[in-house]
Amino acid sequence: MQTFHTVTALRDMLRPLREAGKRIAFVPTMGNLHDGHIRLVVRARESADLVVASIFVNPLQFNDKRDFDAYPVTIEEDTNKLVDNDVDILFNPDVEQIYPGSMERSTRIEVLGLSQILCGQHRPGHFAGVATVVAKLFNIVQPDVAVFGNKDYQQLLIIRRMVENLCMPIDIVGVETVREPDGLAMSSRNGYLSVEERQRAPVLFGTLQEARDRILGGTTFQMVEAFGTEELIKAGFRPEYFSIRRAVDLEDAIEGERDVVILAAAWLGKARLIDNLLINSA
Ligand code: PAJ
Repeated sequence: MQTFHTVTALRDMLRPLREAGKRIAFVPTMGNLHDGHIRLVVRARESADLVVASIFVNPLQFNDKRDFDAYPVTIEEDTNKLVDNDVDILFNPDVEQIYPGSMERSTRIEVLGLSQILCGQHRPGHFAGVATVVAKLFNIVQPDVAVFGNKDYQQLLIIRRMVENLCMPIDIVGVETVREPDGLAMSSRNGYLSVEERQRAPVLFGTLQEARDRILGGTTFQMVEAFGTEELIKAGFRPEYFSIRRAVDLEDAIEGERDVVILAAAWLGKARLIDNLLINSA
């Protein structure tokens, strides 16, 4: 695996390969890699000749500076995992490469509507930061296909819409959430949980599963949302939302809608956990 730290060097390396007809798959990450990220890399390997991964902790998407400062950086371990999983190229730029000059005055990409609900409502500016950095990375790498996790379902939809709206010729592939044996979705933020909180954390996924069963059993969406919120509070979480939405666009789900997703975000101690469950009751 070759590692590049500058845009110019990466472009110079990729140009002849692209011209030779190599199909390029791209997996953007913020590092501190776990098996969820690795699943994306494996999926990328299946669909391309060349796999490019990036590790860049993007300051523009952190609405809380302390969260940015605390974000775990484990570049050596990450590099080893990428090598073990057959990644060809790692792009690991610094902030100056991605935001030369002033980050505050740079161009932003905002997917209106989708960016302002759910996580976007609780983390103002977050999704503009995500869309902007992903657009930049797409322009730098110019992949044929890019792989994202369903774990960040709202993010995945935002990227899909951005690519469609801006006519970017890139296939966006979504990959199933990878979980710990007890159901907790893998996340770099799980490391912020105390031992005791870690034991309680699977309640989040358990509640999503119970909510799904109730929906399939005919309970109204409104009642299921109230149930989910209450269950999380009882287990010591501080929920931001527990919401049933249309899977296709995250608009409010009207009773009887068949393709829905249940999404939840909740604080447990110092960790903000998110998870979701897709339901197709057709
Ligand atoms: P990060 O949180 O590092 O996640 C990188 C990718 O891994 C995202 O597509 C995310 O959905 C996926 N992922 C995380 N946990 C997963 C799990 N348990 N199972 C499957 N996939 C999982 O998401 C970001 O970084 C950033 O916002 C980024 C897109 C890189 C832009 O900065």
